[in-house]
Amino acid sequence: MSSEPTAPQGAYPPLPSDRPVRWGILATGGIAATFTRDLQQIPEDARVVAVGSRDPDHARAFAAEHSIPTAHGSYEDLAADPEVDVVYVATPHSHHREAAEICLRAGKHVLVEKPLTASPADTDHLLGLAERSGLFCMEAMWTRCNPLIRQLADFVRDGRFGAVRHVASSFAFPFDGPPDHRLLNPDLAGGAILDLGVYPVHAALLLLGRPDAVVASGSLTSTGVDGHSTALLTWHADGHRPAATASLMASLECGPAQSLSVVFEHGRVDFPTNFVGPRTMTVTAAPSDARHGDPEPQEYTATVPGHGFTFEAQEVARCLRAGETASPLVPHQATRDAAAVLAAWRAAIEEGR
Ligand SMILES: NC(=O)c1ccc[n+]([C@@H]2O[C@H](COP(=O)([O-])OP(=O)(O)OC[C@H]3O[C@@H](n4cnc5c(N)ncnc54)[C@H](OP(=O)(O)O)[C@@H]3O)[C@@H](O)[C@H]2O)c1
Repeated sequence: MSSEPTAPQGAYPPLPSDRPVRWGILATGGIAATFTRDLQQIPEDARVVAVGSRDPDHARAFAAEHSIPTAHGSYEDLAADPEVDVVYVATPHSHHREAAEICLRAGKHVLVEKPLTASPADTDHLLGLAERSGLFCMEAMWTRCNPLIRQLADFVRDGRFGAVRHVASSFAFPFDGPPDHRLLNPDLAGGAILDLGVYPVHAALLLLGRPDAVVASGSLTSTGVDGHSTALLTWHADGHRPAATASLMASLECGPAQSLSVVFEHGRVDFPTNFVGPRTMTVTAAPSDARHGDPEPQEYTATVPGHGFTFEAQEVARCLRAGETASPLVPHQATRDAAAVLAAWRAAIEEGR
């Protein structure tokens, strides 16, 4: 594999490599449980030592269900726990900034669920706080840590198929939950774009960097959040690479769809399903002589333990043991750029109402 950019060093002593990183889980919802189960699959690298909830009963129940030694009845108490090295923040997006800030101000490293926050300003605030504090902070964009997605990024870096010219990606499922569910609730930063669109956006940014233009159109749900929409991203030719485009879709009103296709000058890579935590991808190189017909697509596979979160947890462990403040797999700049694209996409849908 080609080398990835290096990450900045922090002001904290690197964690020892001869023991697992000690995790605290902040919030007790659906993804907190899934992530906890994945952490428990890699005992050499991770140990879940505490959970914190707004409700002490929820914390105790979660701790009992997942065999976690300590249950805290507030996020502040979890952040102050001296046994915890790093906190996984799994509140609704609307509350990521506040919860992560509690942890950073208590001197804890953080892995914050996607999207890092609900706005570019909050994203900049949180990353700035982490950077000034010399603490590790990462958006939990686990897709970027998956081995097949890393292989795809290597194809772009080594140029074997030429430049990327187009990215097409969709993430959608028909959601019929109640209007106060976090996905539909404007007070909890609901909508398809922040929850699902964040994956196609990160895929496009990983391959092409920050776009020069974003246009979007779509519709709102009856609760006033974006329900179904598409964004078109453009990268102008810049002397080093030709112009490129991306078409992205995020919807709570159709599907399921969860695909990524990357069209290079001389080939393509497809993830027809499950591109957010892929186990397979299909690589098709353009024939050197078009008269020889279509080439055979080649299938790449990866072994993905559990739900697929172990790769990001191991990357967090690697960073903390190396004393880094940011992962080169999910750089702070990529999180800032994603926040800007997501905001432009959402604004276009809201303005078009
Ligand atoms: N990486 C992935 O594949 C993936 C998948 C799903 C979701 N996510 C992300 O994970 C985050 C949480 O999603 P989820 O599906 O786990 O949500 P969820 O099931 O609704 O759980 C959210 C938890 O956040 C806490 N919370 C704090 N303030 C809250 C408020 N005002 N309203 C409701 N809950 C509040 C609650 O825990 P306490 O009561 O214990 O404090 C609640 O259980 C979201 O940002 C989402 O984007 C990521």
